[in-house]
Amino acid sequence: MKKYFVSGGAGFIGSCLVEKLVKLGKEVVVYDNFSFGRMENIEDFKDKIKVVNADINDFALLDGAISEFAPDVVVHLAAIHFIPYCNENPREAVQVNVDGTHTLMNVCSKYRPKAFLFASTAAVYPPSHIPYREDHEIGPFDIYGATKICGETLMELYALQTEVPSVSCRFFNVYGPKETNDHVIPRIIKQIKKGVTTIQLGNTSPKRDYIYVEDMSEALIKISLTGINKYEVFNIGTLLPPITPKNLFIQFMMDQFRQTRVNVIRGTPACFILYFANVRT
Ligand SMILES: NC(=O)c1ccc[n+]([C@@H]2O[C@H](COP(=O)([O-])OP(=O)(O)OC[C@H]3O[C@@H](n4cnc5c(N)ncnc54)[C@H](O)[C@@H]3O)[C@@H](O)[C@H]2O)c1
Repeated sequence: MKKYFVSGGAGFIGSCLVEKLVKLGKEVVVYDNFSFGRMENIEDFKDKIKVVNADINDFALLDGAISEFAPDVVVHLAAIHFIPYCNENPREAVQVNVDGTHTLMNVCSKYRPKAFLFASTAAVYPPSHIPYREDHEIGPFDIYGATKICGETLMELYALQTEVPSVSCRFFNVYGPKETNDHVIPRIIKQIKKGVTTIQLGNTSPKRDYIYVEDMSEALIKISLTGINKYEVFNIGTLLPPITPKNLFIQFMMDQFRQTRVNVIRGTPACFILYFANVRT
């Protein structure tokens, strides 16, 4: 796989993924409307990639970009991801996350990449105290999760109709540098920069499976290189015990100094697992 088309490639996860792809010598097109993504995220390697500043629902521009580039792999990360924003703007969330996914699939059905990876989420599952397997019951509890399960359904249909090997990747909670949305780590860093002596963490009781952005990016690359059956679903988490926001910050500091380690683990035929995504309360 040589050519990667990354929608949402200027965002938090996208920019990390693109940097890794560039280091691996891949050709990359970033397609992003910079609504949440930032040029500074891709500044260091922007001369080595092509950047298309356009909307995921702009069929003509998307069609032009994909027909010209002819990607081997499409990684579809463009979405409205910040849950409070989705709750306040449900129509926009549906337009970008559902219609946008449909538009991109429509274009890809003409040019048929060798693999299509869709960024879904653990928010397709209802809250649970037991670890989630991919065959766990589905039950989104907010508009964001609902848009992603719609996206997955479209993906499956599309994969079966076009035979483009496709994967819905259910990301658990991703953390790391360059976060674009106001999640735990950016909130803590903002407070530290202000020089406060006591850090407000908000609700410290929920425990989540937090995965480092470098590991997430490695996982996406590995999945793209793994022979994909027609349509598959992968949880992408850590297999580690879930942690609180406070411990997440300690983990974040430690992660700045370590190498990434990712394995793709396939489970039973009905259950494809990359690590075992864990409990969320
Ligand atoms: N960060 C997490 O913890 C997490 C967890 C589960 C799933 N995900 C999914 O992973 C993907 C990437 O998330 P992220 O954390 O990097 O978020 P992000 O907001 O940093 O990245 C999304 C990117 O999509 C772009 N975008 C948004 N609307 C667009 C549109 N209409 N046209 C073109 N581009 C558009 C944004 O500018 C941004 O660069 C998303 O699909 C998200 O739902 C993320």
